[in-house]
Amino acid sequence: METKIYKVKDENDESLSLVGKILKDGGLVAIPTETVYGLAANALDEKAAEKIYAAKGRPSDNPLIVHISDISQWAALVEEIPPEAMKLAKAYWPGPMTIILKKSHLVPLATSGGLDTVAVRMPENRIARKIIDMAGVPLAAPSANTSGRPSPTCAKYVYDDMNGKIDAIVDGGECSVGVESTVLTLVTNPPRILRPGAVTCEMLKDVIGEVEIDRAVYDKIAKDEPVASPGMKYKHYAPKTEVVIIKGTFEAYKNYVQASGEKNVGCLCFKEDAEKLSEFKTVVYGKESDPQSQAHRIFDALREVDGMGAQKVFARFPDIDGIGLAVFNRLVRAAAFNIIEV
Ligand code: TXA
Ligand code: MG
Repeated sequence: METKIYKVKDENDESLSLVGKILKDGGLVAIPTETVYGLAANALDEKAAEKIYAAKGRPSDNPLIVHISDISQWAALVEEIPPEAMKLAKAYWPGPMTIILKKSHLVPLATSGGLDTVAVRMPENRIARKIIDMAGVPLAAPSANTSGRPSPTCAKYVYDDMNGKIDAIVDGGECSVGVESTVLTLVTNPPRILRPGAVTCEMLKDVIGEVEIDRAVYDKIAKDEPVASPGMKYKHYAPKTEVVIIKGTFEAYKNYVQASGEKNVGCLCFKEDAEKLSEFKTVVYGKESDPQSQAHRIFDALREVDGMGAQKVFARFPDIDGIGLAVFNRLVRAAAFNIIEV
């Protein structure tokens, strides 16, 4: 299949009506959002949703997030919207927060990965919301990467993974946040974060009080253990190169890398570190002093790691406060939970 590319400047671009038509007719289109690019299809059309799994090579039990352009579209997708859910939506939508509730009959099991719940979010990106409006239906959209690869934060990376497999890519420029939305389930009591993102635990607590963080956010889950979010059990975000995280000060990190005795090593480090590591190949994932910049860079950096030509890459350990938890969560999966404390 030929994958059409529509480069769009803003939500007023005329080609968005064509894109809406493709989606209405059951096609697959990669769209920009503020977090990462999504691979969109009509969330209410079982056949369309199934095509998403095929294009990504995604296991069929891993549910999709449904994207809406207005809060009024939410009620039809769920059994009920509890007051805390509405408070959160009013506080953080449109934005990088996904809320899981019991699903309505309207949402096919193909979209919910066979679960009786559905994850919904309203993206902040105006082009994304305009595309939902043009399609006239809510859009199921997982990250637009091949399953297991880093999520794409620009159209080029979508193209690398999806060219020939989907109908179109809408190139709306670079994603501002860089990591996927915070996923919060309100089906459990207290509500629980299944995936950390730019809407932090503290921000959620400010609105609804008690919030837990699922153990799988930090820890490796055994293959046969049940998980709240199927996405957490799959290998994720992994470059082809082996990544090992080194936890400690910069000096301890540098000593470890120098002493490792490995021949062809690379460093996945902060901007402040790079010039002090000039004897090694480096890829920078943001500033140590600026966790937002780390979120913005982490997936691109993970894709760049494979271009370094290193055998093994040693990564600096990020501060895990606020959005830093989201950065850590992606990095630790890329490193297959391999952390060395120095
Ligand atoms: O920012 C984002 O959320 C991006 C953009 C495109 O919106 N989308 C995204 O989708 O990251 P995806 O499919 O790559 O990640 C969705 C995650 C998966 O880990 C999935 O298992 C979990 O959310 N999830 C979705 N629906 C769920 C449900 N009903 N119950 C538990 N976990 C769910
Ligand atoms: Mg994903």
